[in-house]
Amino acid sequence: MITADCVVSRCNQLLTCGGPIPKRGNDLKDVGVLTNGSIASSEGRIVFVGKDEDLRKKVRLVDGGTFIDGQGYVGLPGLVDSHTHLPFAGSREKEFQLRLEGYTYQQLAEKGMGIQTTVEATRQATREEIVKLSLERLDSMISLGTTTIEAKSGYGLNIEDELKQLYAIRQANNSHPIDILPTFMGAHEIPKEYTSRKEDYMELLIQEILPRVRENQLADFFDVFCEQGVYSIEETRYMIRAAKAEGFKIKLHADEFSPLNGAVLAAEEGAVSADHLVAITEEGIDTLADSSTVATLLPGVSFFLMSDKKAPARRLIDRGAIVAVATDFNPGSSMTESLFFVMQLAVFTLKMSVEESINAVTANASYALTRDQEIGSLEVGKKMDLVLCRVPHYLTLVYHFGINPIKHVIKSGKVVLRDGVLLTDEYGEA
Ligand code: NIG
Ligand code: FE
Repeated sequence: MITADCVVSRCNQLLTCGGPIPKRGNDLKDVGVLTNGSIASSEGRIVFVGKDEDLRKKVRLVDGGTFIDGQGYVGLPGLVDSHTHLPFAGSREKEFQLRLEGYTYQQLAEKGMGIQTTVEATRQATREEIVKLSLERLDSMISLGTTTIEAKSGYGLNIEDELKQLYAIRQANNSHPIDILPTFMGAHEIPKEYTSRKEDYMELLIQEILPRVRENQLADFFDVFCEQGVYSIEETRYMIRAAKAEGFKIKLHADEFSPLNGAVLAAEEGAVSADHLVAITEEGIDTLADSSTVATLLPGVSFFLMSDKKAPARRLIDRGAIVAVATDFNPGSSMTESLFFVMQLAVFTLKMSVEESINAVTANASYALTRDQEIGSLEVGKKMDLVLCRVPHYLTLVYHFGINPIKHVIKSGKVVLRDGVLLTDEYGEA
């Protein structure tokens, strides 16, 4: 008999999202549906996934273990948000209002607003304030089914404040059930003090900030905003080579507004992912399709910026690229913690199928964080990160939009959301 301390039995459908990861092309259409599926874990790791009759034969629940009757629910892997700008202070509703009056995101940036507004607010905040804000946002995320995220710095743009953001991420990670993978993004903008001497900032970033981030093991990934008016292709290449030499894995904000061929650069440099890609070129699509660099699409941004320009999800998938979907949670271009909603947007606005969008926020998103051995699918040996939605069929996860059907969330084998109520006591938060 297999011993388990957590059992969820007889889900209407259990979506395992298993099989070879990453998923490309037709494989993205398979979410591994188990009808009347059951799952069990021990000490946070999955020990059984399969038919309910097999569960009864093979698995014994320890005394005092957790048991959830999955009838009436669809279960799927905890969602993985592979692109967020979690630790910022302030908000930008006034700039949102200006956008509603007709200004574009880039016009606001040219006026010194945009990212710079949030840099000012974040520099003024204490680390504790940023931790508190981050924990509130993490609570929203987990109640919307997200169990692992990536989080970027990039609103400090100097040694002290970039490190402050990264330490805030570490502290939030240690006091919340969501697992956070940190990214150093000192190259998110050019700080105001360096407007006319960008090269000096790049040297500061490489010579002084990067080594401090590495010595203190504050980030796994390094990211650059490669964009007209921010960092050019050559500047980006220069910085990512320095980061690679220090042992960082690379992510890139690529081809968001201008077709600079950031996706080609990402693939050439062996980046883990190229993100945004609204303005990707045909060459970029082909290059990503032939590479292991994930194309991370962020449909919340086109939606929030009310733009008709959208990432070419169909062409990327049909040519064989590894496609993931993430929120890009940030105060300027995508103010939402809901990866669940963004998964719906991938269907409604990028013409992805329901199955493709589910795999894009689970299996392929785990690959975009190089954690595909641990999370992103419901397979024996992986973490028991499970979301239970009160829907009759998995298609309803998208079909019935604008509500939150997530009732229970299990993180590392522990129930952290029960009947829609966050069990904050379990991790000591007020
Ligand atoms: O991914 N494009 C650059 N950075 C963010 C926006 C950040 C902000 O506006 O504060 C993004 O869209
Ligand atoms: Fe971003």
